[in-house]
Amino acid sequence: MAVVAGGTRAKASGMSLSTQDLLHEAACVACRAPSISNSQPWLWRIVGDALELRCDPSRQLRVADPRGQLMVMSCGTLLHHATVVLAVLGSGVVVERVDEATDPVLLARLRPTGPRAVTAEDMRLHHALRIRRTDRPPFRGTRPLPASVIDLLREAAAPFGVATHVFDSKQVGFLAHAAREAAHIHGRSGAYRDEMAAWTTYRDPVGRDGVPPTVAVPQVPRTVPVRNFAPDSRPLLEAGPGDDRYTTYLAFATDTDTRSDWLRAGEAVSAVLLTATTLGIASSVLSEVVEVPGARALVHSLVAPAGFPQLTVRLGLNASGSELPATPRRPCDEVITLASPDPVGR
Ligand SMILES: Cc1cc2nc3c(=O)[nH]c(=O)nc-3n(C[C@H](O)[C@H](O)[C@H](O)COP(=O)(O)O)c2cc1C
Repeated sequence: MAVVAGGTRAKASGMSLSTQDLLHEAACVACRAPSISNSQPWLWRIVGDALELRCDPSRQLRVADPRGQLMVMSCGTLLHHATVVLAVLGSGVVVERVDEATDPVLLARLRPTGPRAVTAEDMRLHHALRIRRTDRPPFRGTRPLPASVIDLLREAAAPFGVATHVFDSKQVGFLAHAAREAAHIHGRSGAYRDEMAAWTTYRDPVGRDGVPPTVAVPQVPRTVPVRNFAPDSRPLLEAGPGDDRYTTYLAFATDTDTRSDWLRAGEAVSAVLLTATTLGIASSVLSEVVEVPGARALVHSLVAPAGFPQLTVRLGLNASGSELPATPRRPCDEVITLASPDPVGR
């Protein structure tokens, strides 16, 4: 791997880090970001004083996600995670977004803007980034999330121009119907089952991607079913005594439905999940309802005033979060490259 010589110097957290070290640290730590089936469909490239984010279509789930919407949203969570790390390293950042017509895989370019004061909120979000886990067992909360807390979570999405919709109890019934319908259609698809099997590490316990059995749950009666990761295998994580009775279901929606919207939606999802973690709220993403056209149309009709549904998440209190193992990630050097300097004269 060629390293560009002579990066500029930036003061970060009282230490002097070269811009490239700063970007490398941000890119590497950000890989704790959630992604569809832990596919980690992203690539970082450090080019001079900028960090480029590309999606990696070789990791796209072609059956569940033929448009690449969830792949790009996963990259959006990574992008937001990187800004959280840069903030705690004491660096400002500007994010330049690249539209699809300009480049089919380059999504964004991050440029550090120099030192800035680290806030307590920066520290909280960074801590959340390290401890957040997708928490799939039914939540054990015995009361609903307070309305003021739900407002805080929704506010976290707003800076990305992404609307949020909280399902009321009647709508949760429709969401449950959409989830069951999506699971039924997926369950009948051999191509889907093969794809899911490829993205679980049931047969490969040392895998660095995919969803391992240690964090998947068996199918149990619950209001809104979660994805059945490997119908043919037995998940190892106990579903526990929860019943999801007081779980909050939140949808993210955008005015239009372009690649840029998917990226922003991913950033907003990341901001909400990390904010939830700072508040001790457990969470997991439910994307099957946007993967199957009929289910997606139903969810669209429920969130219509907010726009095109991009993703739904479940949020709840008193879950098993702190006991959950971390889902592995690929080593950073598989994901981050340093651009070679241009040959002289070019
Ligand atoms: C776009 C997107 C879609 C996801 N869809 C689901 C889903 O349908 N069901 C689920 O249990 N987890 C889902 N996840 C969560 C991932 O499986 C999880 O982030 C990944 O396995 C890594 O685990 P971690 O979040 O605990 O670090 C999704 C995450 C993203 C970003």
